Parts: sequence; structure tokens; C-alpha cells
Amino acid sequence: MDNETCFPCLSGFSASRRFQFRNLRNYSMSSLPSVLITRNDVPKESIMLLQSRCKVEVWEKPSPIPREELLKLVQGKNGLYCLITEKINAELLDAAGPNLKAIGTMSVGHDHIDLEECKKRGIVVGNTPDVLTDATAELTIALLLATSRRLMEATKEITNGGWGNCAWGPLWMCGTSLSGSTIGIVGLGRIGFGVAERLKAFKVKNILYSGNKPKIEATEKLNAKLVSFEELLKQSDFVIVCAALNSSTRGIFNMEAFTKMKRSAIFINTSRGGIVQQEDLYKALTTGIIKAAGLDVMDPEPLPTDDKLTKLPNCVLLPHIGSATVETRTTMALLTAKNILAGLDGKPLPCPL
Ligand code: DGY
Repeated sequence: MDNETCFPCLSGFSASRRFQFRNLRNYSMSSLPSVLITRNDVPKESIMLLQSRCKVEVWEKPSPIPREELLKLVQGKNGLYCLITEKINAELLDAAGPNLKAIGTMSVGHDHIDLEECKKRGIVVGNTPDVLTDATAELTIALLLATSRRLMEATKEITNGGWGNCAWGPLWMCGTSLSGSTIGIVGLGRIGFGVAERLKAFKVKNILYSGNKPKIEATEKLNAKLVSFEELLKQSDFVIVCAALNSSTRGIFNMEAFTKMKRSAIFINTSRGGIVQQEDLYKALTTGIIKAAGLDVMDPEPLPTDDKLTKLPNCVLLPHIGSATVETRTTMALLTAKNILAGLDGKPLPCPL
């Protein structure tokens, strides 16, 4: 059997690149470590990299693997390549059994993984920080502008006759300026910092952030000020959530929080839907407690197509595309494969959790 029959994903690559993998034929497949990839539409470069050293099984569809299939296929594997759609908990680790040594998640967020359980069993876990910071910060700015300048609503006005009716109405389709505003960032980590850096170019007046400890770089480079969560809610014209989802952030955006915000405030979330009590957000948006929201993340995901948030003109929804550029997703995928390979080799992971 030639290499391309054995490794169909090699077919799109140059002869010299294929040559690097030619010797694989000489390996006995059963002596290679086994890795499960949970869907077949991950960037092929990462599949190839794993196939160069491992026996790789790829779930056959470009959609999240059903739980029962996952529990079945993970059995006996040495490595697991997963995404945010798979819950990695004791049940899954039990199903995998004692051979599982390394897990790579193609994400920076890891709230879908029970790290304690993995640690107890000596399984190393890696994620993909840094490489998606720019893409996610860019998308956050895009969502902020789409929400503050009402881009989705405005586009519809062209085809629904609204523009025809009012032509250049002086106050028609007016939004809120970023220039001169106070921005509050909840969670000034890598992505939050990237958002703040970009916002400087929009001539915002103040950047506030909340979190556990002061960030020296934030003060030095951005002149950002650490304030309490309450103070941030009270003072900000735009509240942007970039915090990780964990036990201290789950559900913190509830009615109490929205009520502390300005009635003119715009709320943006590109981190995790679980940080927001969605029912409370809906009430806040429909009763004028806050002005508008832009969400790239929701709970649940995918959001049901008829969810009531989809009916609100003052709520811009995106389907969790923060890191979705081809370059970023390819780099994330390769890093996921590298984490798994390092873990299988017993070496330090490029990005351990
Ligand atoms: C992540 O990496 O955690 C993102 O949410 C997925 O784009």
C-alpha cells in the first residue's frame, strides 16, 4: 500500500513533504500510540502531524461526536484531540481507561475539561493560548462596533423599506460613540489586553478592568485602572467580558449586575455564555435596564434558532466565531497536535494546563 492510500490526507501536499512520511510504511501500526480526533473537519495539517507518529482514528463526521460514540471510540486510546464541544469528565476518562496519557483541546478555554480528574489519573492536558489572541480581540472589536453602531439593524433597513421611509433622518439609526467613552473589561488576560490595546486607537477616555490582581503592564501601556466589579459596572459605557468561565465567574452577569450598569450601557461577551444569566440579560434588554448587547457566546451553544434573544433588535448574536480565521484555526490545530505528541513522549507540553 502506498503512503497516500495509507494516509489520504497527504495527497494535497508536495512531493518533498510526502517524502518525510514515506518511512511510515515500515512501522507496525499496532506499535504506534493511538490517538482519537473527535471530528473530521479539523485542519488537515494537524491530522498529518499526528499520523506521522501515531495511529490516528478520526470521527467520521464534521459535527460534534455523539457522546455514546465518543465513549466507545476513546476506549484504549493513548491520546485524545478534542474541542470545546466534548465534555472531558470522569465518565469519559473511565471509558478511555488507563492507557490515556495526553489530551489536547483545540481551544484556549478549558471549562469543558475536569482538570482535577485528569491530574489524578496522570493525564496531561494542553490548550492553545496566545495563538488566538489577535483573532479573538479583533472579533471583539467587530462585535462592539456592530452593536454600538447598530450594523445588523441598519442593514435590514435597506431591504425592509425603513431607509426609503425616512431617508437621512437626523436621529435615525444613531448609535453610541466609542470615542470619549469609558470601557470596562472584565478579565484583563491576554484577550482582554488585546481588546484594550486596540480600543486605544478609538480614542476612548478611560479603560477600567476588574479582576483578582493589578496588571502592571495594563497601567504602564494602557493607563488602565483596576476597580471593583461594582465600580466597573457603574462607570462603564461599554462592559466587555473576556474572563474565563470558572466557579467564580459563572452567572456573575445576573439581574443584580445589569441593574448596576448605566441604562445607556452596551454589554459585550466573547468569552463563555455561562458567565451570563441569559434570562436576566433578556429582561435587561427588553425593559431598558441596559441599551444593547453583543454576544459571540451563549448558553446553550448552538443557540436554538427560535431563541427569544434572536428576536431582539438590540442584541447582536454571532455563532462563537471569536478565533475563526483560517490562519488562527490552523495554528490552533497544529498546537493541539504538538501538545498531544509531547504528552505521549513524556516531554513538557508546549502549552500545558
Ligand atoms: C476557545 O479557544 O476557547 C474559543 O472559545 C474557541 O474559539
